[in-house]
Amino acid sequence: MVAASAPKPPQFSLEKAIRKNILALAPYRCARDDYSEGILLDANENALGHALPKESKQQQNGHAVDTSFDDLDLNRYPSPTHFDIKQRLCELRNVPSPHNFFLGVGSDECIDLLFRITCIPGKDRVLVCPPTYGMYGVCAQVNDVEVVKVNLDVEGGAFRPKVDEINRTLSEAAQSANPIKLLFLCSPGNPTGTLIPLDDIRAILSNPDYEGLVVVDEAYIDFAGADKSAVRLLIEEGWSNLVIMQTLSKGFGLAAIRLGIAISSPEIIQVLNNIKAPYNISTPTASLALRALSPTGLSLFRQNIQTLLDNRTYLRDELLKLPAIINILGAPDANFLMAQVGDKDGKPDNKRAHDAYLHLAETDKVVVRFRGNEYGCEACLRVTVGTKEECDEVVKKLGEFLQ
Ligand SMILES: Cc1ncc(COP(=O)(O)O)c(C=O)c1O
Repeated sequence: MVAASAPKPPQFSLEKAIRKNILALAPYRCARDDYSEGILLDANENALGHALPKESKQQQNGHAVDTSFDDLDLNRYPSPTHFDIKQRLCELRNVPSPHNFFLGVGSDECIDLLFRITCIPGKDRVLVCPPTYGMYGVCAQVNDVEVVKVNLDVEGGAFRPKVDEINRTLSEAAQSANPIKLLFLCSPGNPTGTLIPLDDIRAILSNPDYEGLVVVDEAYIDFAGADKSAVRLLIEEGWSNLVIMQTLSKGFGLAAIRLGIAISSPEIIQVLNNIKAPYNISTPTASLALRALSPTGLSLFRQNIQTLLDNRTYLRDELLKLPAIINILGAPDANFLMAQVGDKDGKPDNKRAHDAYLHLAETDKVVVRFRGNEYGCEACLRVTVGTKEECDEVVKKLGEFLQ
C-alpha cells in the first residue's frame, strides 16, 4: 500500500521542483511575527496615525459615509498572513486548511512568484498552450525563461490541450539540460473561454517523467458552473505537483483591490510565502476581500454571476444574429465571447475584424479586444459580457459597422 504521505506523482519532490536557493531561503521575520499586542514600537510605524483628512464624510444616496477608514489601523503594517481571508476561502472552495492558500497582489503576482520559485533564469523552461493569457510569456521574459509552446487543438474552436504532445514534450525536456519546470493551463481559457476537461489535466499531472509544477489558472472559474474547478484534483486526489490560481478580479468584480489566490499543497504554499514581500496584501484590500467573502457578499456575488450568465446567453444570441458574425469560437465558460467576423462569402476576415475593433473604439467609444493575431483566433473580437445595456450597445455598433 502507498503511504498516505507519498507524493503523487511518485517522482515529484520539492527538491527537484523548487530552486535550491529558494528552498534554502530563511524568510524575512519581524518582531510582529511573535508579538502583536501592547505598545508597538518595533516596526517604525507612525504612532500618531494616518494623515488622511478627518472631515471625509461623503454623501452617498443621501447617507453620510465615513471614508476615513479609522477602524483599519492604517498606520500599522498589515497582517503578513491574512488567515481570516483564507479561512473564508476554505469554506467557499471546499479546501480543508488555510495553509492550502497563498494570497498575492492579483494572480499576476502569483504567476511571477511561480516562475521565481521554479525556474533558474537562462536554463529552465516553461510550457504554455497558445492561444493563452499573455502574462505567462511576459513573466517568462522578465525572468529570462524560455517559453516552449504546444498549441491548443483549435480545430472547430475546440481549444483543447493536445495532451499527448504536451506529455511527449515534457518527457523529452526532462532528459535535456534545459528541463521544463512550469506548465500553465488556463481553464476556462483566455481568450478561448473554454474549460479544460479534468481528465486532460490529470493526464498531464500523471506524466511519470515531469518533475515540475502544473499550474491551472482558474481566473474565470466562477462563470463555468458549479464544481468545475481543478481544486478536487488537489484535495480529493492529492496531486502534489498541482497549483491552482484564482482571483477576486473577475467573478467577485474586485479587479481594483488586486487579490489573487494560489491553492496548492501546504509545502508549496510555504515556499511562496517565504519569498513574497512580507506585507504584500494591504489592509484596505484585505478588509474589502473579507466583506466580499461574508455571507451577504457571497449572496451578491452569486446574484451577479447569474446576471452575467444570463447576459452571456443574450449577447451570444444577439451577436449571432449579425450576418457578419460567422461564429462564436470556443465554449461559453467565461465572462467573454470570441466573435468571429466574416467577409461577404462567410470566410473569416481578419482585416475586417481589426477595422471593426478600431472603429468601435475610436468612433463609438466601445472597446473590445482584437484577438485575430492569436493562434486559432483568426478574425476574432473578444467581447466581455457587460450589462444588458452594454451588450445591446456593442451589438448595435458592431452591426452598424459591419453592415
Ligand atoms: C487567465 C487570466 N489569469 C489571470 C489574470 C489576472 O488576474 P489578476 O487580476 O488577479 O491579476 C487574467 C486577467 O485578465 C486572466 O485573464
